[in-house]
Amino acid sequence: MKPKLYMSRRIPQIAIDNLREVFQVKLNPFERPATREELLQEVKDVDALVCQLVDNVDKEVIDAASNLKVISSYSVGYNNIDVDYATSRGIAVCNTAGVLTESTADLTWALIMATCRRITESEAYLRAGNFVAWEPLLMLGMDVYNKTLGILGMGRIGQAVAKRALGFGMKLIYHSRDINPKDLPFAATQVTLETLLRESDILTLHVPLTSQTRHLIGKDQLAMMKPTAVLINTARGAIVDEPQLIKALAEKRIFGAGFDVYEQEPFIPKELLALNNVVLLPHIGSATIATRTNMGIMAAQNAIAIISGLQPPSQINVLP
Ligand code: DGY
Repeated sequence: MKPKLYMSRRIPQIAIDNLREVFQVKLNPFERPATREELLQEVKDVDALVCQLVDNVDKEVIDAASNLKVISSYSVGYNNIDVDYATSRGIAVCNTAGVLTESTADLTWALIMATCRRITESEAYLRAGNFVAWEPLLMLGMDVYNKTLGILGMGRIGQAVAKRALGFGMKLIYHSRDINPKDLPFAATQVTLETLLRESDILTLHVPLTSQTRHLIGKDQLAMMKPTAVLINTARGAIVDEPQLIKALAEKRIFGAGFDVYEQEPFIPKELLALNNVVLLPHIGSATIATRTNMGIMAAQNAIAIISGLQPPSQINVLP
């Protein structure tokens, strides 16, 4: 008998096919995330769970899954999983680190350009029939070339974003606890968080969401940013205190923001939607055909490796 696996949302078919060679796969049949009740019910007798970043895999879910050996997340972020508790229960937790780095960096740059040059606002203006003549003062934005790019979190994605900045002649500064400038393949200055906030023309966030990074960018931090600065977030929404961001944008204390992630996804406050100095995307950082396929393949490889007693491509926890 093959071991059992529950997949809480359909992922690319190749991943499902690969998993079916090893597991009896039960797939959430609906075109929506699994409900809490479904998740609690479906994990009961499975050996493996392939989950999504929208699934809250907490102590209750883990306790409901008495046979569980591996939680394989179809994401690089894993703030939705109680990794410590899973570890204490001897359950491997795996993610898709690495395969989505470049796509997420590309999207970060799309947001940088769109926010600085008011792309979505300009297009909406044109589509509404307002483009009646070239105007000297129409849609004036912020330059990107030669400016200072501040990167909070210099991990894989932060570095991929930084590399792209070199073509824009940008000065790079960053704040990251464990990445030494000597270990970077480009020139960047490591600074304190305060210097990062004060000196960045564009500040982009690439830290994971943890208890230390929740609301790391709040009222005081937003107040330190230049009034001409732009804030970009393709990491996790709760790194920014959203009500404070809305106030700062509404009062024009920063120039703009480009966001792919939100505190209470998929809920977006109406006050944020009402602002025109923000570019808002529906969490699509890794959403290319190739990357989502590769994420699926890796999520499958992770689950298969663990169940076969092999080293998976990307395991987050170390089991005793
Ligand atoms: C992740 O993987 O954590 C992204 O947020 C979605 O791909």
